[in-house]
Amino acid sequence: MAKTLFIKTYGCQMNVYDSARMADALAPIGYRPSLEGENADMVILNTCHIREKAAEKVFSELGRLRAQKARRQAEGAGMIIAVAGCVAQAEGAEILRRAPYVDIVLGPQTYHRLPEMVARVARGAGAELDTDFPVESKFDHLPAPHGDAGVGAFLTVQEGCDRFCSFCVVPYTRGGETSRPVAAVLAEAEGLVEGGAAEITLLGQNVNAYHGEGPAGENWTLAALIRRLARIEGLKRIRYTTSHPADMNDDLIAAHGEVEKLMPFLHLPVQSGSDSVLAAMNRRHRIGDYLGVIERLRRARGDIALSSDFIVGFPGESEADFAATLALVEAVGFAAAFSFKYSPRPGTPAAALEDQLPEAVKDERLSRLQALIQRQTLDFNRAMVGRSLPVLFEKPGRHPGQIAGRSPYLQAVHAEGPSSLIGEVAEVAIERVAANSLGGRLHGKTPAGPRPDSANERRQASA
Ligand code: 5AD
Ligand code: SF4
Repeated sequence: MAKTLFIKTYGCQMNVYDSARMADALAPIGYRPSLEGENADMVILNTCHIREKAAEKVFSELGRLRAQKARRQAEGAGMIIAVAGCVAQAEGAEILRRAPYVDIVLGPQTYHRLPEMVARVARGAGAELDTDFPVESKFDHLPAPHGDAGVGAFLTVQEGCDRFCSFCVVPYTRGGETSRPVAAVLAEAEGLVEGGAAEITLLGQNVNAYHGEGPAGENWTLAALIRRLARIEGLKRIRYTTSHPADMNDDLIAAHGEVEKLMPFLHLPVQSGSDSVLAAMNRRHRIGDYLGVIERLRRARGDIALSSDFIVGFPGESEADFAATLALVEAVGFAAAFSFKYSPRPGTPAAALEDQLPEAVKDERLSRLQALIQRQTLDFNRAMVGRSLPVLFEKPGRHPGQIAGRSPYLQAVHAEGPSSLIGEVAEVAIERVAANSLGGRLHGKTPAGPRPDSANERRQASA
């Protein structure tokens, strides 16, 4: 009889991808994904360690699962609890010590070993811990994604990071930078498109450092990979995330001007607008470099929209440093951005720095930065009203008769329309801006795509 599997995913899109791969890995041994965890035979917490209190959140969720497991056991049913992802990697044995009812702890690099771990647990062999960085790649041992891929699919092409920004746990939890071979990526992409994907987002912690092995043993850049993927018939849109400014090479910038399927939206974290904070963060680029990259991107693709990540309240950040961050945001003009209060991560160099800032200072700076970013996002969205945007429709909308999708700039767009358009790109005349989305009307005529002709984009194009 089929057993049910519930995966709770925290954190980034790479974890979303990994959760899908874990579900695929467990399918052959009889586990079917379920959307509800209450009565599941197996629950996996796929955890994130990037910011505050991640571990504590996991332990409190585990406390809840413990009660659930006890209830099921009283009813004569079993339940397997697994902790995966970056908290599992970082905390490892500590999880089994504090939560002995957990059956499996596994890091992000060993998901392919999940079926055998489950089998051993089912045989009563005791708890399993696997946080190795094995020599064999999980990608070679996981089943390919199968079935309905969804219109917008994710594909991990690169994992780990060698940059060691002083605040970041990724190089420790995900390990060193590795790139999947071109052939494996192509095969997976073709499978996704056959399964109905019209858009693929290439994922990696530092995705533009991609240097996967090509068919002749040579290394391919991310730009070369994108150019090759663009030749897949039926694939309509390509995106990639997340990138490091120092890895934005000429080749990739040129691709933004030349590859039509590559969408004009880029998430390019800068973290701070102050050169001295960037140096303390070990970011290995300066503000001038970042602005230079943006200028070149805009020269290649005038309407490119930008997004970023910011950390406020990094140790030693002065009011002048923070003012420089606000000035950078003003100068660039972002379509969207995420901002976070600095959170000391155990084991990272920045956690040991002396001048940690008080919470109140971090809170106050965060709210100022977020107010500015929200204003920019709203300006950016408002500038779309009256224009026509090609929207890739992904799913039914919230109201009957509506369909929902994304603009080239990653904005959520909804319109009245037939569900037969799901998976297709259609032109929408934008009429309204809601809190986090645009609303409009489908129209038959397809005028030329969006032009950088609004005040907002003029500002963007000349930062
Ligand atoms: N504290 C706050 N934010 C962090 N990020 C990464 N590490 C930390 C930390 N220790 C943010 C960065 C990164 C994003 C994914 O999370 O902005 O780009
Ligand atoms: Fe972390 Fe990104 Fe820096 Fe790598 S480049 S250490 S993933 S913040």
